[in-house]
Amino acid sequence: MTVNKPPLSSLSDLAHAGGAPPMRERGGGGVRFQMKLDHLDHLVCPETGRSLRLDEPYVLEKGRVMQGELLEPISGTRYPIVNFIPRFAPQENYASNFGLEWNIHGRTQYDETSGFSLSRRRFQKETGWGADLRGENVLEVGCGSGRFTRHALETGALVFSCDYSNAVEANYRSNGTHENLVLVQASVYEMPFKRGFFDKAYCFGVLQHTPDPRNAFLAILEHLRPGGEIASDIYAKNIGRWLLQPKYWVRPLTREMAPRKLYDAVKKYVDLMWPLARIVRKIPFIGPTLNWKLLIADYSKLLPNADDATLKEWAYLDTFDMLSPRYDRPATLKNFRRWHEEAGLIDVEVHYGFNGLEGRGTKPAVGTAKVGARRQKRSIDRLIGIRRPI
Ligand SMILES: C[S@@+](CC[C@H](N)C(=O)[O-])C[C@H]1O[C@@H](n2cnc3c(N)ncnc32)[C@H](O)[C@@H]1O
Repeated sequence: MTVNKPPLSSLSDLAHAGGAPPMRERGGGGVRFQMKLDHLDHLVCPETGRSLRLDEPYVLEKGRVMQGELLEPISGTRYPIVNFIPRFAPQENYASNFGLEWNIHGRTQYDETSGFSLSRRRFQKETGWGADLRGENVLEVGCGSGRFTRHALETGALVFSCDYSNAVEANYRSNGTHENLVLVQASVYEMPFKRGFFDKAYCFGVLQHTPDPRNAFLAILEHLRPGGEIASDIYAKNIGRWLLQPKYWVRPLTREMAPRKLYDAVKKYVDLMWPLARIVRKIPFIGPTLNWKLLIADYSKLLPNADDATLKEWAYLDTFDMLSPRYDRPATLKNFRRWHEEAGLIDVEVHYGFNGLEGRGTKPAVGTAKVGARRQKRSIDRLIGIRRPI
């Protein structure tokens, strides 16, 4: 059915109108307006910060906007909704390798697939947040397949999740119909969320893969409310890492390869090396570490007693994950701590952890820690002029 009515002023108007007619409805069952439409009300234009409106026509499927456009009415900027996901990033970008990786391995690292509660434990340990976050707005940056989104949703929070690559499609397949999830494709540097809105934010496995990790970290802080908490991690930079980590020897070559070509090559390499890797793994104490040096991601320590097929699947995934990213920019413990402190965060904890360095901090509440707040503003002011990553 084609619509000739004037556009609704906001997306929740649409929800509350009990059903402005969509262009067409697929999937039968009539139009059921769900929270999803209300959720879209939270999105703003990343350039102007102004509200967006769902323009017409659009396509609904089972009450969700499958296809359409979000419009910033004053600047006229439009953002497509493709496969139920609002897109604020070009389809192809420097993170396309991750799009491929997570769409192939959409469920590999989910706890229910591996049989180990690795993702749940990492989420709980790194955030240090309670199990019940009902009523809170939580931001996830760089969701990948959505294995942590799953655990954030279990807290009852309203979870806003973004990723720069089309890994968001893998996340949508696993978590997309959860009524508390708002999922968008967007870069950490240009998120379509209000500033100062979130109670909590987390960013795991991502910062080192951005062109400017410090500014990515600061960009997340902009979206935290005073009193809001951040938990993030980054690879640790060690003296001699170039010598001790062979991935850095081959990355200049592999990161330039087309992701599909590299993935196929990695798979062949892992298949070829696997019989040797099985033997090397058995060398006491150093076996699995040796395999990593041979560029075989060996998870046998972390997944004890996992079957051979599971370990091989993780090896395909993580060998590709270490060789393919355009950016791999670790930080020293000192610098990572300094980012927290210069931003004026309080209750800062930075230490070595699962993925290198883990950090937590709290944005000072308004009226407290004036010096911290001034410092934070200075740091964030430096964000102005960030160049859009290509
Ligand atoms: C190693 S994956 C980690 C995914 C997930 N957090 C996990 O640990 O399973 C890194 C993710 O960061 C995303 N990413 C890279 N640059 C980004 C940016 N500028 N903004 C948002 N996400 C980004 C990639 O697309 C990728 O999905």
